[in-house]
Amino acid sequence: MSDVLTIALPKGRVLRAVAPLFVRAGVDAGVLLADDRSLVRESPAAGLRFLLLKPDDVPTYVEYGAADLGVCGRDVLMERPSDIYQPLDLGVGRCRMVVAGLAGKAAPAGVPRVGTKYPRCAAEHFARRGVQAEVIFLQGSVELAPLVGLSDLIVDLVETGATLAQNGLEEREEVARISSVLVVNRAAYKLYNDRVRPLIEALRPPLPASAVDRGARGDAGA
Ligand code: PRP
Repeated sequence: MSDVLTIALPKGRVLRAVAPLFVRAGVDAGVLLADDRSLVRESPAAGLRFLLLKPDDVPTYVEYGAADLGVCGRDVLMERPSDIYQPLDLGVGRCRMVVAGLAGKAAPAGVPRVGTKYPRCAAEHFARRGVQAEVIFLQGSVELAPLVGLSDLIVDLVETGATLAQNGLEEREEVARISSVLVVNRAAYKLYNDRVRPLIEALRPPLPASAVDRGARGDAGA
């Protein structure tokens, strides 16, 4: 078996959020948070190697086996379903995917145009509601689209709400709740099970005290 497990992590915000989970699992924080451009980070003591990727690429590396495990947002998995295990919600990187439009402006008559980095999620959301919509794919700074008349609405992630507010936009509907998920290559899960299972347990978020109490009283539910 491989001595070292390879883990694909998204660069940026989510990396800072998941780093403490890996520190709890025995990784030196400096390995993940070093402020340099190296894309491969080794943690020999923990028997782990990390690849730092664009978030959208994490499922690709894991599905093809270039990484044994990875961390990615539910938004990425919803937009591009992949043939990988998703054994654990890490409880970090929480945000929401929403429909938003110009504050105080009614939806247009006819087919709305929707700017988004998530064309599949947006199309499915409006289809579920029986609303016809024209989806326009954008790479980022999606909040700009309604300001300049490119779209009537956007589908995008909201964390603090600051970006919507500072651009005169308001939330109209929630599409999904998002958080970071641990993903595992199917072959690696079987081949390296004796290493992957303990790592999953080490990364599992601690239960809040109230849930532990309920569990001890036996009323935590099935
Ligand atoms: C994300 C998201 C929103 C913003 C929401 O963008 O797409 O634009 O963060 O955060 P807030 O509710 O806390 O303001 P990101 O910073 O990843 O850049 P992008 O717009 O280029 O995708």
